Amino acid sequence: MSNRALFATKIGVIATSVGSAVGLGNIWRFPYEVGVHGGGAFLMVYIICILLIGIPAVTSELIIGKKTHKNSFGAMRELGGSSWKWVSVIGIVASLMILSFYSVVAGWTMEYLMQSVTGGLFKSSAAEYTQAFATFTTDSYRPVIMVLVFLALNHLIIMAGVEKGIEKISNILMPLLFVILLVFCVNSLFLSGASEGISFLFTPDFSQITPSVVLGAMGQAFFSLSVGLGCLLTYASYFPDDTPILRTSATIAGLDTMVAILAGLVIFPILFTFQGGDFIAGPKLVFEVLPNIFTDITGGRYLSILFFMLLFFASITSTISMSEISISFFMEEFKISRMKAAAFSTTIAVVFGTLCALSFGPLADVKFFDLTFFDFFNRVSSEIMLPIGGLLYVVFAGWFLDKKILRAQLAVKDNAVSHAIVSFVIFCIKFVTPLAISLIFLYSLGVFG
Ligand code: TRP
Repeated sequence: MSNRALFATKIGVIATSVGSAVGLGNIWRFPYEVGVHGGGAFLMVYIICILLIGIPAVTSELIIGKKTHKNSFGAMRELGGSSWKWVSVIGIVASLMILSFYSVVAGWTMEYLMQSVTGGLFKSSAAEYTQAFATFTTDSYRPVIMVLVFLALNHLIIMAGVEKGIEKISNILMPLLFVILLVFCVNSLFLSGASEGISFLFTPDFSQITPSVVLGAMGQAFFSLSVGLGCLLTYASYFPDDTPILRTSATIAGLDTMVAILAGLVIFPILFTFQGGDFIAGPKLVFEVLPNIFTDITGGRYLSILFFMLLFFASITSTISMSEISISFFMEEFKISRMKAAAFSTTIAVVFGTLCALSFGPLADVKFFDLTFFDFFNRVSSEIMLPIGGLLYVVFAGWFLDKKILRAQLAVKDNAVSHAIVSFVIFCIKFVTPLAISLIFLYSLGVFG
């Protein structure tokens, strides 16, 4: 453990973790989920999920990682012994699956960034944008090249190491990301549909809250916080010992939710102004509707460059965190160099990323359980493995981890946090969070009819 890497600065601890959490999930998936699930009602349920499920789950992972300073497998073996260590394998496998399909979308954002710069992106009608996106994504080469370029960049960062690669890039990209997002927010707030968009986002209509809204909110909360697969556990293993756990969990959750809400404040005014409040699913919104709208706005070309930069920054700080789960595992459990471990993870992502990239075109008819490669990887990892992994980590922290470790970790440098709050979080970790995840998950499997 003596020569194991640590993040060098307090800012680094926050920038890397928030960099992991803030990703495509916040910027395109969150506004979409809000849109289809009734606006403010979804936001309210989402915030409750973040508080009662998200923060306790993040806290559990941070405790396990920071206490052991080990990769997720080594950490669970040290604290839980030979059976609990297998929980981490769910996360190691799922993180490589997520890395594969997520990089495909990140590759698309790079293609659109390049096309915004060259000007080749701009067309004259909505139909042409739809056509261009379809032509691009179904192509046999272009999306594959872009996923490979993206994974190569991702590889360069992770190869550079925890402090010189991950921490450094997060320290640079995260502030930039916030600035770009604020520029867009200000822009959106001057649009004619701004007040309609904002009231849609913030006015809850309680009649809209159904079990599927709750399910959507929990899934979104897990994905958005990067929790459930040992990702934050892995980053926490690089936290200096005096990092306050609860305050860090709250900061990650707070900033992640803030970015999601800011993204909503950008997207909804645009949709109400230009689309009459018609909600459009993720890829179509980002790659067809928004570019078309940018064409009509003065300075739209620059907005378009900035927008795809934003998505690219958000993506790469998330994919390096997904990669680190398996890299730290390969490095420490097989005692190989960072270079070899990174090569191993990247190779897996290259193979599956290519299959996912081709699943919109040449491999569109190759199906597992009626799903293409891309959809299969996405659904199995985020709808099944993520909640199961999250549940097991929380149950472990609440019921199997030595109470003294739990309390001691929660007490580190958190004098400002009262005993009542610590006890409440422990109560959630033991009872509320596992129960909530189990109920919502069983409902999603159709157990309640
Ligand atoms: N949270 C990221 C997003 O919102 C995605 C992500 C990064 C993630 N690391 C993860 C999701 C680990 C699950 C597990 O886009």
